[in-house]
Amino acid sequence: MASLGTFNPAQNVRLSGTPSLNAHQSMIRLKANNRLKIMSIVGARPNMMKVAPLLAELRRHDELEPVLVHTGQHYDYSMSQVFFDQLGVPPPDYNLDAGSGPHYAQTAEIMRKFGDLVQHDRPDLVLVAGDVNSTIACALVAAKERIPVAHVEAGLRSFDRSMPEEINRVLTDALSDFLFTTEESANRNLANEGVAPDKVFFVGNLMIDSLVRALKIARPSSLRLELGLRAKPYAVLTLHRPSNVDHGDELKRTLEAIAEIAERLPVVFPAHPRTARNIEAAAGEAAGPSAIRVWKGGLLPERGLWMMPPASYLDFLDLIGHAVMVITDSGGVQEETTFLGIPCLTYRENTERPVTVSMGTNRVVGCDPQHLLLSALETIENAQHNQDRSALIRPAPTRPPLWDGRTAPRIVRVLKEAYQRDPACTGEHVPR
Ligand code: UD1
Repeated sequence: MASLGTFNPAQNVRLSGTPSLNAHQSMIRLKANNRLKIMSIVGARPNMMKVAPLLAELRRHDELEPVLVHTGQHYDYSMSQVFFDQLGVPPPDYNLDAGSGPHYAQTAEIMRKFGDLVQHDRPDLVLVAGDVNSTIACALVAAKERIPVAHVEAGLRSFDRSMPEEINRVLTDALSDFLFTTEESANRNLANEGVAPDKVFFVGNLMIDSLVRALKIARPSSLRLELGLRAKPYAVLTLHRPSNVDHGDELKRTLEAIAEIAERLPVVFPAHPRTARNIEAAAGEAAGPSAIRVWKGGLLPERGLWMMPPASYLDFLDLIGHAVMVITDSGGVQEETTFLGIPCLTYRENTERPVTVSMGTNRVVGCDPQHLLLSALETIENAQHNQDRSALIRPAPTRPPLWDGRTAPRIVRVLKEAYQRDPACTGEHVPR
C-alpha cells in the first residue's frame, strides 16, 4: 500500500493509496439488501455544511444507503432548520432532540439516545464531522457497538485542552477507522499521534464543497442588501467561544474595542444565542456593554456595532464575501474567508487550522482587545490602500490543496473502494 502523501495528479487526490482494510474497517459487511448503510450525524450548525454535500453524493450511488440523524444539539430555526432549507437537505431520518445543557449532560443525553437508536436501526458505518459534542458522543457509542466510524475533518489540533472542541477532536480521532483530513497539518498531527497511515485519507474540505455550491446560487435579495451594504465598506463579527463570551468583564472589554473599530465602519454582528444571552445578561448590569446596538431592520448608518440574530448560511456567505474584514473566533469562518480571500482576524490564542494562516488570509491576533483594535485598524488601512490599486494587480486568493468543491466524491470513492474490497463482501482475497 502506498504511504500517506502519495500524490496522484490524474485524480487530483492525495490519499493513503487505494484503500485496503484494516481489521476494524473490514467490519463493514454487505447487508441483505446489498446496500451499505451509512449513518451521518449532524448536531450543531457547522456540521450541516459539512454533511450536506456528502449526503447529496451518497444519494447518487445505488449501493449506498444514507441515513441522516440530527442530535438536536442546535434546535433554533436560525441555528438548524434554515441550513437544511438552504442546503437542500431533506428532513433527517431521526431527530434525537437532545437539546442544550452542560457539556457532560448534553453529551450523555446524545449518547443515550443514539445508543438506543443503533439498537433498532444498526448502520454499517457511522459518519461524524468536526469537533462538537454530537461528534464525540456518536463516535463513542458507535465504537463501543463495534460499528466502524468515519471522521470528517480529522487531525486538526489547537494543542489547547482548555477548548472543549480539542478534547472532542482528539478522542474522536482515537475512535475512528476512516480519518478524512482537510490539510497537511492534520496528516502530520495524526502521524505524530501514531495513527496508522492506512486509516488516514487526505481528501480536502467538505465545507468548501458547500461554499462552492452556494456561490452558484443566484439570489435576488440578501441581508447585505437589506442592510444597505451593497457598495459601502463594512466588517463582520462572530463570537461564541465560551472563553470569549462567558465572562462578563472580558466580553465587555472586547465589545468596547470592537465599538472603536466601528467608529470607522459599520460592524455587522450576527450573534450566536450563547453570546446574545450573555450580552443581554450583562446589559442589565451597570457596567454592561453599552457600545452595542440592536438592529431592528432597515439600512445601517455609516458606523456602529450592530447585533442581529444569526444569519442564514447564504446571507452569511454573502456578508463575509463582500466585507473589508471579518473578526471571528469560529473555526469554519477562518476557512471560508481563506477561500474567499477576505482578511480574517481570529480572536483566539491559536488555531487548529494553520493552513488558513500559512496560505490564506487569516491572522491569529490573540485575545487582547487592544491588539485586536490595532490589527483591525491596520487591516482597514490596507483595504483602503488596495482599493486605490487596479483590480488587475490584486492577487487572487491562494487556496489550500484540495479545497476545490470536490471533496464529497473523494470521500465516497474511499468508502466504496473499501467496501468493495472487503473480502467478506466480495469473496475475493485482497492482498495486503
Ligand atoms: C457548539 C460547538 C462549537 C461550534 C458551535 C457553533 C461544542 C462543544 N461546541 O457550541 O464547536 O463552533 O456549536 O455554533 O459542541 N442555543 C440556543 N439555540 C440553539 C443552540 C444553542 O439557544 O439552537 C444556546 C443554548 O442555550 C446552549 C448554548 O446556546 O446552552 C450553547 O450551545 P451548545 O450546543 O452547548 O454549544 P455552542 O456554544 O453552540
